[in-house]
Amino acid sequence: MPSLSVFGAQWGDEGKGKIIDLLSLDVDVVVRYQGGANAGHTVIVGGEKYVLHLVPSGILHAGRVNVIAAGLAVDPVALLEEVDGLRERGVAVTGENLRLASSAHVIFAHHRTIDQLSERWRGAGRIGTTGRGIGPSYADKAARTGLRIGDLLEPDTCRKRLRAALAEKNALIERVHGEDPLDLDAQIESYVALGDRLRPFVCDAGAEVRSAYRAGKRVLFEGAQGFLLDLDHGTYPFVTSSSTGTNGIPAGAGFPAKDIERAVGIAKAYCTRVGEGPFPTEDEGPEGEAIRAAGNEYGATTGRPRRCGWFDTVAMRYALELNGAEGFVMTNLDVLSGFPQLRCAVAYVRDGERVEEFPAGQDLDGFEPIYETLPGWREDIGAVRDFEALPQAARDYVHWVEERVGAKILMLSVGPDREQVIPRGL
Ligand code: GDP
Ligand code: IMO
Ligand code: MG
Repeated sequence: MPSLSVFGAQWGDEGKGKIIDLLSLDVDVVVRYQGGANAGHTVIVGGEKYVLHLVPSGILHAGRVNVIAAGLAVDPVALLEEVDGLRERGVAVTGENLRLASSAHVIFAHHRTIDQLSERWRGAGRIGTTGRGIGPSYADKAARTGLRIGDLLEPDTCRKRLRAALAEKNALIERVHGEDPLDLDAQIESYVALGDRLRPFVCDAGAEVRSAYRAGKRVLFEGAQGFLLDLDHGTYPFVTSSSTGTNGIPAGAGFPAKDIERAVGIAKAYCTRVGEGPFPTEDEGPEGEAIRAAGNEYGATTGRPRRCGWFDTVAMRYALELNGAEGFVMTNLDVLSGFPQLRCAVAYVRDGERVEEFPAGQDLDGFEPIYETLPGWREDIGAVRDFEALPQAARDYVHWVEERVGAKILMLSVGPDREQVIPRGL
C-alpha cells in the first residue's frame, strides 16, 4: 500500500482516528491535507484515550513521520497545546516525526472570534460551526489576505501583514458586531513568539511527502471531517470550508492525483451529524436517543451531542463513487447490539417520486428516506475478532449493506480500542 487515502464517508466522526492509528502500523508517513482543529480524532490504546485535532493519527506509533500539509488551516495555539499535551503523556513529538508545511495558512485569534460572531449574526441560519476559526481563515486564504506559517517565522513580514489584516478585522469586530477589538500589538508579538516555537517543525511538506513516496515509503492520507461536509460536494452551505475527500489530496498535500493508488472510506454502521444542516435519516425519536447513548455520541472537539440516525446507502454510494473508493471500513457495529430492528435508507422519495441518486447540489428539503428494516441481534460483539463468529443477524446486516451500497466492507470495528476490529481484506 504505497499510497492510500482514508476519508470520512458520512458527516464526520466515523472513527477515522481509530482506523488510521491502526493502519499506521504498516505505514511510514501519515499526512493531514485539509481542515484544522475542527477535527477531533479519537485513538484509544490500552484504555488510554487521545483526541487529536491537528497532529496526524500516526503519532502514537514510533518511527512514523506525521505531516501537516499546506492545505490545512493551522491554529498555532491549538497545535502547540496539542504537542505539549502529547509530550506530557510521554508521546515523543519532535521535529523529526512532526512536519508542518510553511505554506499552511494560519488561524489567528481574530479568525476564531469572527467565526463565533458570524454564527451569532446568522442567528437561526447558523451553520453550527466548531468555532475554531476554520471558515474565516480559509476565506482569507481565498481572498489572498491570509498569512501562512512561513510568514510567522519572519518577524518583519509577520508584523507588517498581520497589522494590515487585523486593522480590517478589528473594524469588522467593532463596527459590524459591536464587540471590543483585539489589541493589535499584543496579537502581533504573541504570534511572532508562537512562530518561533513552531520553527523546528516547519518545512516544505509537499516536497518531503513526494520524496518519501518516490523512495518507496508508504504514505497514508488522513481525511478530516466527512465527505458530506465537503465544501463543493457536501450539503452546502452546511459544510466545512475544505475538500474533505480524496479530492483534497492533490491540492492540499501537493501530491499528484495519479499517484493516489487506493482510497478507502470510513463509515459508521449508522449515521451521525454535529451542527446544523440536512440529515435525511436522522431519528429524533427514542431510537435515535438510544443510538446516542449506546455510541456515546458527543463531539470529540466541542462536546456537543451528535444528531443520530440510520445508515444511508444513498449518501454512501455517492461518497464512495466521488472518492473512487474501493470499499469502506464500517465502524461502531457493536453500538447496534440490542436494537430489535435496524433501519437503512435504500432511496429517497420526493413528491411521490423515488430518488436513487444523492441529490447533490440541492438543499434536500422534502427528500424523505425510504427504509428497509432488518432484524437486529442482542449479543455483545465487542470481543469478536472473526467475521464468522458474529451473530447471524450481524453478518446479514453487513452483507445486506455491502449489496445495497455495491462496495466491499474491508474491515469492521466493534469497539473503540485499537484491537477491536474484524479484518476483511484491508
Ligand atoms: P473521527 O473524527 O472520525 O476520528 O471520529 P471521533 O473520534 O470523533 O468519533 C468516533 C468515536 O467513536 C470515538 O469516541 C471513538 O473512540 C469511537 N469509536 C471508534 N470506533 C468505534 C467502534 O467500532 N465502536 C465503538 N463503540 N466506538 C468506536
Ligand atoms: P472530524 O475530523 C464532525 C462540522 C461542524 C459544522 C460544520 C462546519 O472529527 O470528523 P467548521 O468548524 O468546520 O466550520 O464547522 O462542520 N464539523 C465536523 N463534524 N466531525 C468533524 O471533524 C467536523 N469538523 C467540522 O459541526 O456542522
Ligand atoms: Mg471527530
